Amino acid sequence: MCGIVGYSGKKSCLPILLGGLEKLEYRGYDSAGVAVYDGSKVKTVKTQGRLVLLREKLRNGLPGTCGIGHTRWATHGAPSDVNSHPHGTDRLTLVHNGIIENYSELKEELTQKGYSFISQTDTEVAAKFLDACYDGDPISSIRKAVSHFRGSYALAIIFFDRPNTIYALRQGSPLIAADTEEGSMIASDIPALLEYTRDFYLPDEGEILEITENNIRFFDSGGNPAEKKKVTANWSAEAAEKGGYPHFMLKEIYEQPEVVSLTVKTYLTEKCKLSEKPAKRILISACGTAMHAGIAAKQAIEELAGIPVVVDIASEFRYRSPVFCEGDQFIVISQSGETADSLAALRLAKKAGIPTIGLVNVQGSSIAREADHVLYTYAGPEIAVASTKAYNVQLAALFAVSIALAVQNGRLSEEEADWYLSELAAMPEKIKKVLALEKEVAEAAKRFNASDHCFFIGRGMDYAAAQESSLKLKEISYIHSEACAAGELKHGTISLITEGTPVVAIATHPRLWEKSLSNILEVRARGGAVLLVCQENVPVPEGTADILLRIPSCPPLFTPMLTLPLMQLYAYHSAILRGCDVDKPRNLAKSVTVE
Ligand code: G6P
Repeated sequence: MCGIVGYSGKKSCLPILLGGLEKLEYRGYDSAGVAVYDGSKVKTVKTQGRLVLLREKLRNGLPGTCGIGHTRWATHGAPSDVNSHPHGTDRLTLVHNGIIENYSELKEELTQKGYSFISQTDTEVAAKFLDACYDGDPISSIRKAVSHFRGSYALAIIFFDRPNTIYALRQGSPLIAADTEEGSMIASDIPALLEYTRDFYLPDEGEILEITENNIRFFDSGGNPAEKKKVTANWSAEAAEKGGYPHFMLKEIYEQPEVVSLTVKTYLTEKCKLSEKPAKRILISACGTAMHAGIAAKQAIEELAGIPVVVDIASEFRYRSPVFCEGDQFIVISQSGETADSLAALRLAKKAGIPTIGLVNVQGSSIAREADHVLYTYAGPEIAVASTKAYNVQLAALFAVSIALAVQNGRLSEEEADWYLSELAAMPEKIKKVLALEKEVAEAAKRFNASDHCFFIGRGMDYAAAQESSLKLKEISYIHSEACAAGELKHGTISLITEGTPVVAIATHPRLWEKSLSNILEVRARGGAVLLVCQENVPVPEGTADILLRIPSCPPLFTPMLTLPLMQLYAYHSAILRGCDVDKPRNLAKSVTVE
């Protein structure tokens, strides 16, 4: 949430800052701004709204070779020009990603010192607090200021008496740095810099960076110079482009066969085992789509490996005094590896002495660095706010883990495991077949688009798929949608089904087919309009559904890997029909680094 960039070099910095912000816009798009040193003073230009509006405001350029930029997801203070970053004083300016939780306390202190405020942001408070601490030595002043800050932040600062230098630091929010042939750069995330380099520095929490035209120096939290090694990202610059697709989301949906294949291949070679000793119980914690992958994993692990699994929403887990038991293992799932609640859940488990595993997509992310053991997914950069390919690679990895656990636990023989693994390896081709149904899915979306409500029902793995399908639809099309366990429908939700109410029934599980069919008929009896998703070759009685979409047959546990591409396309087309901005849905952002 919120993206920050900074550049100091020989080139004109504005195009570099704006290009970087464009790549980070998925982190928030309520406002955007830059501050650039033009040789005599630091000039700030900012505006409410998307980056295109800032570009428009800057159409005559802004000369200078050192600057910082920001794209905002509003937390403190509504999206407005005045609340846009950068914020500053007559001695410094800064951009911020995160939240300074004790900002009102600090504001009070500053007010007593004679400072006044023009915005409602915690960032203006941070800037003025730093100003109050500034004694001409940036490193010691920053250290002094942040020792009073509570919360999470990544900051990029320009002091006006050193206008060619950027100072930066992170505490709980992401930040990367790179020295390239073009100059020195910082950003909140890798895609912003991929055009220039794949080699990055990953600052530790509390480290302060001093960024000049041809050098980046690191200072540890004690203010002493620190040595830093680079890491190389395995992503290409093209992976962060739309590649001819109208939207990142559509491109990412279509990338699924390739990235699932890459992930499965890696797991087949690595024969993933979580630990030498099998867990007695597995705790999974995550947010959003990643949490839905956890719900599917629970079923796979319990069914295949016979290990009890508890899945928790990370923001609940961290404040719920969870009970840990001997033999527990903790898995945190996160595409970005930076989600604040997921990171806090991981820290809680670590503190309790539970072995922790991070399943993450972004190399070098906070979760990847802090978990005891890291399992990677290989989705490449996911730019669209609504997660698609990341979900499918998480499933692929978690299913591979479930199979490995089952072998370790003696519940699957090597031959049985090989059969499951070969079925997993066959999934990318089946996903391709599902994606070939796009035209039919678009038609279905058109048929149901007039309604402002939609219900998703399913049992077992189909309920897990229903939850993720429902999230996809609501977050990008703004159609109110709810997922309900099909058997639970009659305990309340069915009262909302009236003539023509759209119900997407996911019924891909052969063992549960008859039960699901009864629930579908209950919906039909109340006039509900049914889109049925089932496996090929299943005889569907006439009149069961208004629309029928079939997925290729596969082991029942793996079906969400096929159902979701279908439902992602359904959400995509529903959103397009309503004129929504699918890549940047209202009020949302990716990489949620605030609570
Ligand atoms: C946000 C994104 C979702 C994502 C969730 C968890 O809400 O919009 O797409 O599933 O965060 O993100 P993570 O990076 O931890 O998987």
